[in-house]
Amino acid sequence: MTTRILGKGEELPYDLLLLADEFAEVIDRYIFNSQVYVYEIDQKIIGQYAMYRLSNDEVEIKNIAVLPDYQGKGIGKFLLKDADQRAKASGFKTMFIGTGDVMMMQLLLYQKTGYEMNYLKKNFYIDNYPEPIYENGLQLKHMVMLRKEL
Ligand code: COA
Repeated sequence: MTTRILGKGEELPYDLLLLADEFAEVIDRYIFNSQVYVYEIDQKIIGQYAMYRLSNDEVEIKNIAVLPDYQGKGIGKFLLKDADQRAKASGFKTMFIGTGDVMMMQLLLYQKTGYEMNYLKKNFYIDNYPEPIYENGLQLKHMVMLRKEL
C-alpha cells in the first residue's frame, strides 16, 4: 500500500473531499494551500488526505476520506499512519486533526491512532458553514481538535 502526492495540474478529488466536509466553498478555503495525498487501486483514487502546514513544527490533516465501498477495511488507519510518516519526514513535530463534536466513529478512530483531544473550536460549524449540519441526529456545533506528537 502506498500513497502519492496529487500533482498540481491534477483534478482535486471533490467526490472524496465532500465526504469529509460537505460544502465545496469551505473546502476551497484550505485545499489550495494543502498537499493532497491519494491512495489508488487500479488507478482509481479511493482515499485521500489533505495536509495543511500550520507552522514550522505543526501540521494539520484538514480532510481525510475513503470511498464508501472501501470503508471499514483499514484504509483510513493506513492513511493516518502514512500522514504521520510523511509529516515526520518533512520535519514536523506535531499533528492536529479536527472533527465534529458528535462524530463518534471519527473521534474513536483518531484516538485509536494516537491522537488525544486537545481543544475545542467553539461554534466552528455554526460560524463557518453556510447551513446547519446534522450528524447522528444532532447538529454539529464545535470542532474537537485532536493532537499527536510525532
Ligand atoms: N462503524 C463504526 N466504527 C467504524 C466503522 C463503522 N462502520 N468503520 C470503521 N470504524 C472505526 C473503527 O473504530 C475502526 O477501528 P478498528 O479497526 O480498530 O475497529 C476505525 O474506524 C478504523 O477503520 P478503517 O477501516 O481504517 O477506517 P475507514 O477506511 O473507513 O476510514 C474514514 C475512516 C473516517 C476516513 C472513512 O470512514 C470516511 O471516509 N468517512 C467519511 C468521511 C469522514 O467522515 N472523514 C472524516 C471527517 S473528520
